[in-house]
Amino acid sequence: MTVRRPARVARPRHYLMCRPTYFTVDYAINPWMNPADATDTDLAIRQWQQLHDLYLELGHTVDLIAPQPDLPDMVYTANGATVIADRALVARFRHTERAAESQAFLDWFGARGYQDVAMATQTNEGEGDYLLVGERVLAGSGFRTAPAAHAEAERMFGLPVVGLTLVDPRFYHLDTALSVLDRDQIMYYPEAFSAESRETLRALYPEAILATDEDAQVFGLNAVSDGRRVVLPAAATALADRLADHGFDPIGMDLSELLKGGGSVKCCTLELRHRP
Ligand code: ARG
Repeated sequence: MTVRRPARVARPRHYLMCRPTYFTVDYAINPWMNPADATDTDLAIRQWQQLHDLYLELGHTVDLIAPQPDLPDMVYTANGATVIADRALVARFRHTERAAESQAFLDWFGARGYQDVAMATQTNEGEGDYLLVGERVLAGSGFRTAPAAHAEAERMFGLPVVGLTLVDPRFYHLDTALSVLDRDQIMYYPEAFSAESRETLRALYPEAILATDEDAQVFGLNAVSDGRRVVLPAAATALADRLADHGFDPIGMDLSELLKGGGSVKCCTLELRHRP
């Protein structure tokens, strides 16, 4: 096999995060959550802080949204909105347990002077299910975001939206099964998708990096790339090797405590994309 190592270019990014001050697991809305398992909030905060500080070390900007006592899942800011060219489409959550997060995100974007802020009319969980690759939005459905929401995103952002159907409940959000590495490169776990969606992905991204079941099971695809540095769960060692073969710099992080809520690196990171 010839291994190609293209030169990768990192771009500074702007992220929105939420400190897990009130993190716990006291309800279960995905297969990873078990309220009977103890959580350690202090450990969750320490692990989250390392991710936050890493982004700063990498030269990125991180904004914070204030955590709220009765919203333990607010740490997963990726679900709060989708932001492209200063337009923020705020999420409408599938489960009542998270519904009140929408108002917090609406307030946050409103207070920062975003001109185009819209509350979604259709159920969608932000960047959990909408991932921008170049000029195209990949949109998951099957567990959380409604297929009808895809048209709403297309109208809001004026970009083509490609629908993908998730079929494995462990990978209930698109960002648990697919990760954007740069403008035309992604990595994903094929088995998380319907046969038709697998075909679509194969056709659009023939050079994509494919993850194994072991990589996916440790949330390896819940990763954040700046075009060169790829921050991903440390346990996804095989995937990290493959990323390095493709010219990326993988950086492993331990977010074991936040995995108890069914999220990792990407779930804790909402990208704020500004107008070019
Ligand atoms: N407990 C949260 C939920 O089930 C986890 C969200 C993870 N976020 C993500 N972007 N996949 O909604």
